[in-house]
Amino acid sequence: MRIVVIGGTGLIGSRLVNKLRQHGHEAVAASPNSGVNTLTGEGLDEVLKGASVVVDVSNSPSWEDAAVLKFFETSTRNLLTHEAAAGVGHHVALSVVGTDRLSESGYFRAKIAQEKLIKSASIPYSIVHATQFFEFLKGLADISSEGGKVRLPPVLFQPMAADDVASGVARIAVGPPVNGIVEIGGPEQFRLDELVRRRLASLKDPREVIADPNALYSGAKISERTLVPDNNARLGETRFETWLTQSAA
Ligand SMILES: NC(=O)c1ccc[n+]([C@@H]2O[C@H](COP(=O)([O-])OP(=O)(O)OC[C@H]3O[C@@H](n4cnc5c(N)ncnc54)[C@H](OP(=O)(O)O)[C@@H]3O)[C@@H](O)[C@H]2O)c1
Repeated sequence: MRIVVIGGTGLIGSRLVNKLRQHGHEAVAASPNSGVNTLTGEGLDEVLKGASVVVDVSNSPSWEDAAVLKFFETSTRNLLTHEAAAGVGHHVALSVVGTDRLSESGYFRAKIAQEKLIKSASIPYSIVHATQFFEFLKGLADISSEGGKVRLPPVLFQPMAADDVASGVARIAVGPPVNGIVEIGGPEQFRLDELVRRRLASLKDPREVIADPNALYSGAKISERTLVPDNNARLGETRFETWLTQSAA
């Protein structure tokens, strides 16, 4: 099967392309570096020729409210239009568990807009909602930092390894469209502040992590279960300590 991976050079995209190839698929990594730009439409006609499935694991270079909204709206619109013309039979997109509960955040308003466009288009689709990646824990500290202190609400948190995200997305990409949302998550639950504290300690990052029930997550007020998936989510295998040991090596 020819499967085009938009954002195929990114954290998830590069792992996904490798996994699909290992399973015998013709996986094509598409991104501005390879001449495919979903914001401008450049290269889309060419790369989508003969494609059965498109997986969108791209991300906006800027997370500023207006820029990220423009990225996900414009690129998703372009992609869906070109996919319809090329006869693509399955559009798969990666989004985030709890997206619909996070509309106070500019980033998540953009993901909501992306999902809305996919649901209202004519192409059969699957939206994968993943929990946060272990690889994102330091980035999370960075966006939650002020004056050398990281403030995070001590809510439930069930992150997963990027490699398990890629496996979960690959499984869905080669199956039939679900025309809905599939949730994937990590095998263990933690407190958000606790895990970011452990990650920073492993990096010898001196920032103090403070549990603050009023701290915002990506600009949004969240509660105990905002970030965790439902009971029927498919869970990855990699535990946090295992990932930490592997990533240190
Ligand atoms: N961070 C988390 O914990 C988390 C959790 C759940 C879901 N997600 C979702 O996972 C997705 C992927 O995240 P990631 O961390 O793997 O992203 P990433 O590593 O930042 O990679 C982004 C990819 O998008 C490509 N891209 C940027 N602008 C593009 C454009 N105009 N046209 C086509 N491709 C473009 C980049 O290409 P170049 O390399 O050429 O720049 C790169 O391949 C995002 O949609 C995010 O919302 C994230």
